[in-house]
Amino acid sequence: MITTLRLLPDADGIARSAAILKDGGLVAFPTETVYGLGGAATIDSAVQGIYAAKRRPGHNPLIVHVPDLVAAEKLAVFDEQSRRLAHAFWPGPMTLVLPLRAGAGLSQHVTAGHSSVALRIPAHPVAQQLLRATGLPLAAPSANPSGRISPTTARHVLDGLSGRIAAVLDGGPCTVGVESTIIAPGTPARLLRPGGIPIEALELVLGHTPSRTADAARPLAPGQLASHYAPDAALRLNVTTPNAGEIWIGFGPCPGAALSLSASGDVTEAATCLFDILRQADALAGPAGHIAVAPVPLTGLGLAINDRLIRAAAPRG
Ligand code: TXA
Ligand code: MG
Repeated sequence: MITTLRLLPDADGIARSAAILKDGGLVAFPTETVYGLGGAATIDSAVQGIYAAKRRPGHNPLIVHVPDLVAAEKLAVFDEQSRRLAHAFWPGPMTLVLPLRAGAGLSQHVTAGHSSVALRIPAHPVAQQLLRATGLPLAAPSANPSGRISPTTARHVLDGLSGRIAAVLDGGPCTVGVESTIIAPGTPARLLRPGGIPIEALELVLGHTPSRTADAARPLAPGQLASHYAPDAALRLNVTTPNAGEIWIGFGPCPGAALSLSASGDVTEAATCLFDILRQADALAGPAGHIAVAPVPLTGLGLAINDRLIRAAAPRG
């Protein structure tokens, strides 16, 4: 066990974090989607440390974070469509899965042996400052133990990983609240994970609807395991009439609900608080408890919310 430092995102906190990362240590940091568990993507031991801290299976590759397109193009090969997506949505909550550039210098563990790499340019000012201060691409999966609820505050990170990482940079709560949308460019482009960029916005830039089907030669994101984001309590979805004893999470008008994703029925607001509300409901329900969630529409960020809820409700493997 090590003592995990909680660092402020001021000049000193950024400098200390950058020093730890350059030395191969692990620092969790805020992005606009969720907190990431950062390690230098070029240092084998750092990347292996990420898998160990999360207890993440080694076949599930990591997202690499860079500050700008110049840094991104050093790691991956962009075509016309990927550049169009990059210009439209970066910096922001989008990840592109692209052909790995020869000689990119990334640890082979980052891509779990794949010939593609997942890249993201986050918009969060603290993430941007950290990337620039470190001067290295940072591998960063969500900063939670594998299979559990993603963190949107420094407190959430410490609840899951305290004692297993060197530090967390506390940049306050994340604003988007669900992970990035993952896209593999192509004809058609493939939506590997719905997330912080709504599919409607992607369609406008792509000029077509991205496909959501896997085929044997090109599986969907390997990390998309059925059971994920799992609270301790059992979860029931699309519930308009909760059972006695269930902790009911409302959306829109839900008289009697213990908690609410958005009283006004706003999916963007619901995304921001989704993971924190799931944690609160889990604490209220207790270990053998039951949680019920009101229906959330599939429009806008509602697609990502429903994706996370379905995985949170899936039978545990
Ligand atoms: O918002 C986010 O994306 C956050 C923040 C920290 O950036 N990160 C995040 O990472 O959600 P993670 O590891 O929890 O999810 C990454 C997903 C996994 O499902 C993984 O399988 C997929 O990205 N992925 C990574 N590299 C890939 C690749 N080369 N091909 C296909 N999928 C890939
Ligand atoms: Mg994750």
